[in-house]
Amino acid sequence: MYELLKTIMIEELEVEAGQVSPDASREDAGLDSLATFELSLALSQRLGVTIADEDLFGLRTLADIAEFLEKRTAGLPGSPGASGSQAADRAEDHEHAGLARLLGGGDGIDLDRPGGPAPAHQLARNETPFPPPAPVLDAITRAAAEANRYPDPACGALRAALARHYGLSPDRVAVGAGSITLLQALLTVTAAPGAAVAYSWPSFDGYEVLADLAGFRTVRVPLAEDGHDLDALAAAVDEHTRLVLLCNPNNPTGTASGETDLLRFLDAVPRTCLVLLDEAYCEYARDPGLGARLLTSRPNLIVARTFSKAHGLAGLRVGYLLAEPGLISRVHRMVMPLSVSDVAQAAAVASLAAEKELLGRVRETVAERDRVRAALLALGFDVPPSEANFLWLPLGARAQEFAAACASAGVDVRPYPGDGVRVTTGTAEDNDAFLAAAETNRP
Ligand SMILES: Cc1ncc(COP(=O)(O)O)c(C=O)c1O
Repeated sequence: MYELLKTIMIEELEVEAGQVSPDASREDAGLDSLATFELSLALSQRLGVTIADEDLFGLRTLADIAEFLEKRTAGLPGSPGASGSQAADRAEDHEHAGLARLLGGGDGIDLDRPGGPAPAHQLARNETPFPPPAPVLDAITRAAAEANRYPDPACGALRAALARHYGLSPDRVAVGAGSITLLQALLTVTAAPGAAVAYSWPSFDGYEVLADLAGFRTVRVPLAEDGHDLDALAAAVDEHTRLVLLCNPNNPTGTASGETDLLRFLDAVPRTCLVLLDEAYCEYARDPGLGARLLTSRPNLIVARTFSKAHGLAGLRVGYLLAEPGLISRVHRMVMPLSVSDVAQAAAVASLAAEKELLGRVRETVAERDRVRAALLALGFDVPPSEANFLWLPLGARAQEFAAACASAGVDVRPYPGDGVRVTTGTAEDNDAFLAAAETNRP
């Protein structure tokens, strides 16, 4: 067990080999509180049993830690010397995983649909209707001219630009081919047999699919009337919960929790449980800087953002995580190298610089969103206030029928069978077409 501990410390925590010996104290071995947190995550993953950093705090030397680990894992599957393996456990879990669901259709993306004509009004995917602005298109064209070259594997310029944008060091930024690939990497590095992931429901359906694939037990916590039920979510966290996935503003309801509630929630969750704040739609929210502000005081918080929504680069696939350097480096090791093209990197850097254009487009979408909501309320629909680029119609059993009626009017919306319908805010023309369909199918 000591050898395993030593390997993890040297290879994953990058501790100098000379600092690691059985009689070295935790502090002499470089295990400050953050490194101890990382070590507890790595050990939990390797050994298939939850090790909290608090468990390690009371132990004086590395030999004491190894002895504690021997006792904790005695006879458990996945521990050294026990029969079976973590990989085998996970492979079995994967049989039940949502692979079919992932391949059969994600968030409004139906791979079974033949490549026939696109609907006249595409309001099912939460895309922006605006093509990238001129400076971003120029950057794309320039980078495309060098498409014979491999991309920068470290995404150096983009990470530096994001670091500057948020006032963080670049080692706190991970870039991937869409935030969904980073979410998958994060789930992979934190997975362990018996571990759980908790999230509100309904929320982004990618969470369930990817958590299933990584072998997690998934815990759904129903939304409250006005959005996340943060008290219930905190109460659902137990010693098996590795990760809480919090979509804010929430997809598909558009509802958002504010700073006071989030801080209370973060205080209620143990620091050994990571919290991913997915801010895919934050540009449309009242407080777009919320996640980045919370990061400064919470080492177990990870913020996910994307260039796919307000930045209008969904087709180029770029997203990023902001988190502690140790976690970022572990996520990076899981991300497929060279998966973010130089065209995508250049577009993202240019889009960050084109803030004025971005804000103009966001303002237009927000105004359209509020216009559509007001019209729907006047038609008698129930529509919660949204802080994203879409609206939620909690139609219950009528959801599919309503979506089918919209489809026959050329408007693609996203049904959640039995729950409701989500409709993206498009151009004024798209939105008018949707409102006309809604008017003939009012409650
Ligand atoms: C809440 C949420 N998070 C993440 C994603 C994935 O975005 P990306 O295009 O960056 O992979 C989506 C996409 O719809 C989303 O709705």
